[in-house]
Amino acid sequence: MNLKDLTKRPSSLAFRVTVFVGITIFLCLTLISLMVKQSIAQHFAEQDADELNEVFLAVKRKLNQAYTQGTSPSSILFQAVSGHHGVYYLVKNEANEIVFTSDSVDLEKYPGVAYEIEHITPSTLSLFFDGENMLRATEVIVPIQAAQSHKHYQIIVASNMKFHMNYMEEFEKTLWGIIVLSGIITILVARFAVYRGHSPLRRLSRKIGSITADKLDIRLDPTDVPVELANLVESFNAMIERLESGFERLSHFSADIAHELRTPITNLTTQTQVILNQPRSTNDYSEILYSNLEEYERMSKMVSDMLLLAQTEHGLVKPKAEVIDCHKEIGKLIEYFELLAEEKHIYIQLLGDNGEIMCDKSMFRQALCNLLSNAIRYAPDYAEVTVAIQMVHKEAQISISNPGPKIPETQLLRLFDRFYRADPSRNRDGQGAGLGLTIARSVLEVNRGRIRVESSEQKTTFTAILPLSR
Ligand SMILES: Nc1ncnc2c1ncn2[C@@H]1O[C@H](COP(=O)(O)OP(=O)(O)O)[C@@H](O)[C@H]1O
Ligand SMILES: [Mg+2]
Repeated sequence: MNLKDLTKRPSSLAFRVTVFVGITIFLCLTLISLMVKQSIAQHFAEQDADELNEVFLAVKRKLNQAYTQGTSPSSILFQAVSGHHGVYYLVKNEANEIVFTSDSVDLEKYPGVAYEIEHITPSTLSLFFDGENMLRATEVIVPIQAAQSHKHYQIIVASNMKFHMNYMEEFEKTLWGIIVLSGIITILVARFAVYRGHSPLRRLSRKIGSITADKLDIRLDPTDVPVELANLVESFNAMIERLESGFERLSHFSADIAHELRTPITNLTTQTQVILNQPRSTNDYSEILYSNLEEYERMSKMVSDMLLLAQTEHGLVKPKAEVIDCHKEIGKLIEYFELLAEEKHIYIQLLGDNGEIMCDKSMFRQALCNLLSNAIRYAPDYAEVTVAIQMVHKEAQISISNPGPKIPETQLLRLFDRFYRADPSRNRDGQGAGLGLTIARSVLEVNRGRIRVESSEQKTTFTAILPLSR
């Protein structure tokens, strides 16, 4: 495998699934943690608002108390709040003078707007950094109902966010820990699942690996694999089936050839041995040579027929798309066979429609010659052979019938097999090798045609069907 192959190869399935699952789980967990953080922050804001509200009300109460009692607010404000930690407040009077401020934070710098409200809510709070602490604070303008005058005070309340921020920091660390850990676990589980999920594939591949040329009958069970693989298994089975039948045909083919050639070669050998046994006259020699010549010719015809068959069956010959005038072409063929027919006093008649078909001319002749010569050969003497042309649904049906005994149904289907002869005893008298019909069917099929045979008590009819040219 070179580098180019490696770059072209699609990335591994395990890798794809892992990346996909990894990204998804990361996004989901991040989203969930964002939502959780948001809701915790919201909760803290509400908690702070409640606490600051309490402080604010306490301060306000003390201010009112100071006024009703006529004491100075600064003296009692420092004890306004108890039981609250990390909460600070600053009170300014109308003249913007500071009446009271908690130590440890610098609330003077608070830049926020002042609200005139009764209650502190989360929306009135804003964040504020006093240089040392992060605070959540708000400023409220408070009118004080004193006996003689109406006065305004500004109260700034603030709570330290240190505790909450620490908590959030810890929480965030834990969250990231959970995200990374669950991400790793998910990825590992996904990888394992993919590995396990591929085990039927590995099993298939082992089984396929065990198939050899002599074990082509192995089929995979589509119910034995997950549904996703059932199609693959079925296509594979179909492929093996085609291979098997191809293989079978091939081995039958060579066995048939060997078988068909053995008889004439044995005959030739025996005849030659007999003639060589003792001196013969020139006449005897020439007679035996003539007889041998006939055998040679038969063998040569058979070999060329086999070749033609091999070529058409394997798509090695491309048929020419030629337009053929059916009536005229068949007329010529009948003329050509007339001499042969006369020997048996057979009359050939041509009936039916005329039409133009689409077919390779020499293949058409080959197919019809085979059918016509069969009809003449297998018809009794003084019989009548009929060639009838019919146009049906954009097709021409050319039927060649001859009288003769009925061919049994079981034999009809086998007539088109290679080397098949219905009557083996006639094997050697006619010169047919049993290839004529096989060739006829094969050449018709490469021309998008087909062949059919019917046989009744009176006659046998072969019908060649070919597409019309228009
Ligand atoms: N017109 C026909 N009438 C009766 N039998 C036929 C006819 N054509 C073919 N057959 C039968 O089909 C067999 C196969 O025909 P074919 O392939 O042409 O081989 P061949 O003519 O060399 O024997 C023949 O042996 C014969 O038994
Ligand atoms: Mg024949």
